Order: sequence, then C-alpha cells, then structure tokens
Amino acid sequence: MKVLVTGCCGYIGSHTCVELLDNNYEVIGLDNFSNSKKEVLDKIKRITSKSIKFYEGNMLNEELLSRIFVENKIDAVIDFAAYKAVGESISIPIDYYINNVSSVLILLKVMKKYKCKRLVFSSSATVYGTPNKVPITEDSPIGGTTNPYGTSKLMVEHILKDVYKSDPTWDICILRYFNPIGAHSSSLLGENPNGIPANLLPYITRVANGKLAELSVFGDDYDTKDGTGIRDYIHVVDLARGHIKALQKLEKEKKGLYIYNLGTGTGYSVLDIVRTFEKTNDMKIKYRIAPRREGDVASCYADPSKAREELGFECEKTLVDMLKDAWNFEKRNF
Ligand code: WQD
Repeated sequence: MKVLVTGCCGYIGSHTCVELLDNNYEVIGLDNFSNSKKEVLDKIKRITSKSIKFYEGNMLNEELLSRIFVENKIDAVIDFAAYKAVGESISIPIDYYINNVSSVLILLKVMKKYKCKRLVFSSSATVYGTPNKVPITEDSPIGGTTNPYGTSKLMVEHILKDVYKSDPTWDICILRYFNPIGAHSSSLLGENPNGIPANLLPYITRVANGKLAELSVFGDDYDTKDGTGIRDYIHVVDLARGHIKALQKLEKEKKGLYIYNLGTGTGYSVLDIVRTFEKTNDMKIKYRIAPRREGDVASCYADPSKAREELGFECEKTLVDMLKDAWNFEKRNF
C-alpha cells in the first residue's frame, strides 16, 4: 500500500510517517517546509531504518501533485498540510483559507483525475466551536468556529461531505484531533513551532528550558474546577496510531465517509498540566495569571467511544508520558 502524506515533515505528519513505515506501508511524502524542517526526513529514517520517497513543494501546485500521482501508484492520501495557529489565523485569514482550503480542492481534483478516492483528513475539535456539552461526541453540533483556522477545517469538512454525496465511491475519514502534545520516545521527533509558541505545552517546555521567562495562564475565571481552561491532551504517538486505524477502516470498507474524535476522553486544566509537568520533571514552572485569550473556550474534551468501537482505537499513553516525552525532546534538542 502506497500512502501519500502531505505535510510529512510536520509535527503530526512525521510521527504518522513513522507509524506507517513501522506498519509496512510505503510512504510518499510532500512538504514545503513552511512550518517544518528537512532534517525530519533523516530522523524518520533513523527511527524506522526506512526512507520515504520525498517531494518538496506546495499542494497548490497542481502540476507537482499530478506528477506525484503519475510517478507513483498512490492507494491513499493522508492530508496534514495546513497552517494551524489559531491566533495567527485571525491576523492573516486570506493565507489560511488559500493554504488550508484551496490546497485541498486542488488535491481532491488531482485524486479524482487519477482515480484515488481514499483520503484521511486532518480536522480539529475546533469545528465544534463553543461546545454545548462535554464530553463532545461526533454528532455534537459543529459550527460557530471562533477563528479562521477552525473555520477552514469546517469548510473542508463540508467540501468532503459534498464530494462524497456527489460520488459515494469515495472512501473518506475525517479525524477531529483534540490537543496533540508530547514527542517520540527517541526525542528525535517532537513539536518545534517557529517563533514564540502559541500552544500551551511548547510554551511550558521553553519556560522549563529557560528560553522564555514565565508562562501566562490565559484566565482563571472560567467555569471549571480551578478556573483555568480544560482540554483533552492526546499523545502525538497515540494520535499517529489513530491514523493507521483510520486507514485500515477505509481499506476494509472500500467506500464511505467516516468521522471520528481522536482524544483520550479526559480533560485537564491548565494548572493540572503545569502541576503535573512540575512533578513529572522535578522542576518549578514560573507562571502568572493573565487575561483570557480571545477565542478560547472554557472546556473541550472528547467522548472517544466511537473511535474505540468502530476503529478499535484506544489511547495508550498517559499524561505523565506526554509531559516527560515533551520535556525530553526540548532538553535534548534545544
Ligand atoms: C490550551 C489551553 C489556553 C497557551 C489549539 C487549536 C487546536 C489545535 C491545538 C492544531 C487553553 C491555555 C495556552 C499559553 C495558556 N491546533 N494556554 N497559556 O487553543 O486548546 O487548541 O491548538 O491542531 O485545533 O484550536 O490549544 O495549547 O493553545 O491552549 O494558558 O501560553 O492552554 O487558554 O486553555 P487550544 P492551546
């Protein structure tokens, strides 16, 4: 089975390439290094002792995408390639819609042309907007997204549903990620965002490493157990394993459109994360309580039962694993 992985050098893409290679898939990779580094290719090889056939470029380049399908008999595509910073998306929405939506339209057009209709799409829990109840199930209302990043994911979900409705021989799985954190146990792969991290964990590891002075906790007046935001943190390796399960589901079903939450089902507050990080890694994290961040919701965590029942997917890593692996990656690489 040959799988095209777009965004193969990114945080989740690279961990998924490792799982694909370890499960004897052949991987064709595409990345433009807009938020990743070429050295990741070598790290994937060091972990798996296997190489991926790599193409550098952008999914908006229809000629390049066509060449990939001409030169390789692609059986399935896993599409990770997207910008993903919520705050940034508010300031540059046009770039986000071009990169996150137009690129998928080009991908779908080329897939159709070359009769490859098996797709795993990287979506996000942000499509639920402000959840009306937690834990969140896949039939919870979607919409009311609070930023262009989340809206771009919602738009692609609608596009995929329309494509499937027009031709039910498509075989599509939409995966709604909750909060991916952590790193590969080898510390060769992990989360290494450009510039100042927008997300909680990479910010904490930079404070732990002395690169940033203190963590700002965005609000302690939410309607939660300790007033700080609650999220469902999932180890990136568990998340990657979820993609293998999704691919196996599509291989078995041959056609259909499937939607799954990928989360642990447990919500942790910001202060839970800080305290557990301190205890796990035997250190103190300096923080201050700051005003709420625009677009944040109080509480967001998954009901993971559908993925468990239909994909046989269960998270194996604990919060301690996530926080230990994240810190090991930071201190061994930066
Ligand atoms: C988590 C919690 C913050 C930073 C987003 C996207 C989601 C996915 C993950 C792409 C919240 C608090 C954060 C900080 C803080 N992105 N926080 N201080 O916003 O839940 O999800 O990133 O895949 O789609 O929506 O993640 O890590 O930014 O925030 O207090 O410096 O940590 O308020 O409660 P978020 P996050």
